[in-house]
Amino acid sequence: MRLDKLLARLGEASRSGCRELLRAGRVQVNGETARSGAYPVPEGAVVTLDGKALDCRMNRYLMMNKPAGVLTAREDAWQSTVMDLLPPVYASLGCMPVGRLDKDTTGLLLLTTDGELAHRLIAPARHVDKVYEAKVEGALDQTDVEAFAAGIPLGDFTALPAKLEILAPGVGLATVREGKFHQVKRMFGAVGKPVKELRRLRFGPLSLDETLSPGDYRELNDEEIAALYAAAGMKHE
Ligand code: URA
Repeated sequence: MRLDKLLARLGEASRSGCRELLRAGRVQVNGETARSGAYPVPEGAVVTLDGKALDCRMNRYLMMNKPAGVLTAREDAWQSTVMDLLPPVYASLGCMPVGRLDKDTTGLLLLTTDGELAHRLIAPARHVDKVYEAKVEGALDQTDVEAFAAGIPLGDFTALPAKLEILAPGVGLATVREGKFHQVKRMFGAVGKPVKELRRLRFGPLSLDETLSPGDYRELNDEEIAALYAAAGMKHE
């Protein structure tokens, strides 16, 4: 990749800002001072700016504990989005949310630059399990568990059979394999127990890292990334 493109992707400099950095001799590639934006950076090269090594990984994988009140979107003209909670480098690398949580839903949200992985994880045919904790109005009971297991008709479609565990009269743990618009809220609404609060605890093989405060994020480790690839039916080099 060209050096100017790399620096722009990493959010270090615009193309013109890059020229300044290079002219000033502030950028080294594998120890050699680079003078041109066209400098071809080999894969795995050590690139330093002012002597500090840059993190040149193009693919990033994040877990966020999404707080209530922000949109799951890459950008929005009026409202704050999950991307606003991340350092700008993630947006310039092309990070995007994997699927979507409603504005008032909290909990585990994955974000990645890896479009193919994201696409496969949310593909309807893939049926990746998602686990939600729902605080509802009224008391859940066995008939609700059975309704979830049978597949709830929602008007425009019938939800696939889902697992409902009752944690407390007003708290259920729902495991669903689809991700249609407002699906979990609609399922609880259909059994007469409207959702007051919804929090995602699991996405496929990954659980919400409870050490993350709402709004915090962390990079996934290699094992977690490999588990996601496996869930997506993809090979991870
Ligand atoms: N189902 C919903 O109803 N809302 C969410 O945010 C996620 C799943």
